[in-house]
Amino acid sequence: MANLMDTHPSIHDLERRAKRRIPHFAWEYLDSGTGSEEARDLNLEAMRRVRLTPQMMKGLLQPDTTTELFGRSYTSPIGVAPVGLTGMIWPGADEALAQTAVSRNIPYVLSTVGTQSPETIGPIAGPNGWFQLYPPRDATIRDDLLERVQTAGFSALVVTADVPAASRRERQRKARIRMPPAIGPRLIFDSVRRPAWTIGVLQNGVPRFRTIEKYIDAASLKNAAGFVGANLGGTLSYDYLAEVRERWDGPIVVKGILDPDDAQRCVDTGADAVQVSNHGGRQLDGSIAAIDALPPIVERLNGSVPVLFDSGIRDGLDVARAIALGADFAFCGRAFMFGLAAFGETGAGHAYDVLQDGLVNVMHQTGCENLHQLRERVAPAR
Ligand SMILES: Cc1cc2nc3c(=O)[nH]c(=O)nc-3n(C[C@H](O)[C@H](O)[C@H](O)COP(=O)(O)O)c2cc1C
Repeated sequence: MANLMDTHPSIHDLERRAKRRIPHFAWEYLDSGTGSEEARDLNLEAMRRVRLTPQMMKGLLQPDTTTELFGRSYTSPIGVAPVGLTGMIWPGADEALAQTAVSRNIPYVLSTVGTQSPETIGPIAGPNGWFQLYPPRDATIRDDLLERVQTAGFSALVVTADVPAASRRERQRKARIRMPPAIGPRLIFDSVRRPAWTIGVLQNGVPRFRTIEKYIDAASLKNAAGFVGANLGGTLSYDYLAEVRERWDGPIVVKGILDPDDAQRCVDTGADAVQVSNHGGRQLDGSIAAIDALPPIVERLNGSVPVLFDSGIRDGLDVARAIALGADFAFCGRAFMFGLAAFGETGAGHAYDVLQDGLVNVMHQTGCENLHQLRERVAPAR
């Protein structure tokens, strides 16, 4: 078999193949932003405006990407961001991503609305597993969920702050995404044209919200997505975060922060890190680009806690850009899912290899032996 690094050397190559291999409704869910997708596109555009000034004649360099976070050492500052409805995008996605995280020694964040449970993913991911919480309104459900996640061995909790309400997501509406998927002529038509996806579904079973179905009564299971909308999210406040802090014995990351005052308040309430993110442009179409929100937050927090970043990373250069602007770690949502949909588990690993190879190459090109030196390579804004 040809070497994937030659045939598909970029995330964009994986993206093109992914689109051909998954049903239309799954693609619409994965690829879309919200509104006219200005925020999603701006994330990429703004990223390109971050330029680096290389330094030459450093002799033979061996760039070191090892990154310490929350007392653990990772191969590089690249992680798998939480993605919901994972098994609808690619069957067996959660297991494959957890295995990739272990083989590459990077973090994998399992979403509350992923399609596998913490009990199944915890033993696969080991301490590379982190869990993302969409805050349940019902405190009993929340506390039970936190206990299950802790027992399953997840090493960090990511509390998503940027879904105060469901976004409009027009493309997703038009694609009639349902959870569980509604079996009708459209799905059957799509499935026939996407045989690899269909065989995967037959092997793995119809995707379900396995983490939260315990809390949904049997009558409502047919509309699990409705339960999610009505019961998860819309609740998060600093008081709620403080309650989570009391109940979770381990690092807490608050994800989806764009405002320096919010970032500071999260830290004051007990967060161990904040994740600068605009949810990949899926919530507020008029949002500031995530990469533009990063420097003011780094400045405000002034090293008191690590600053994590996501939204708009499509190659190792983007990882380097985020690190150069002060992020300690960069997470990718779509990039890993493109890899998975393009080549299954091998593709998820390949997506990581593309990002990591690109990051190391940028370090060579800019004369940086360690990640910290990238910060001195940021060129002044034009
Ligand atoms: C298909 C899809 C589903 C997502 N589901 C979740 C989720 O369940 N929880 C969450 O906190 N973020 C979710 N996100 C946001 C990602 O964690 C991340 O913030 C975003 O993908 C980063 O942008 P990128 O796709 O440009 O890398 C999702 C993103 C995508 C693309």
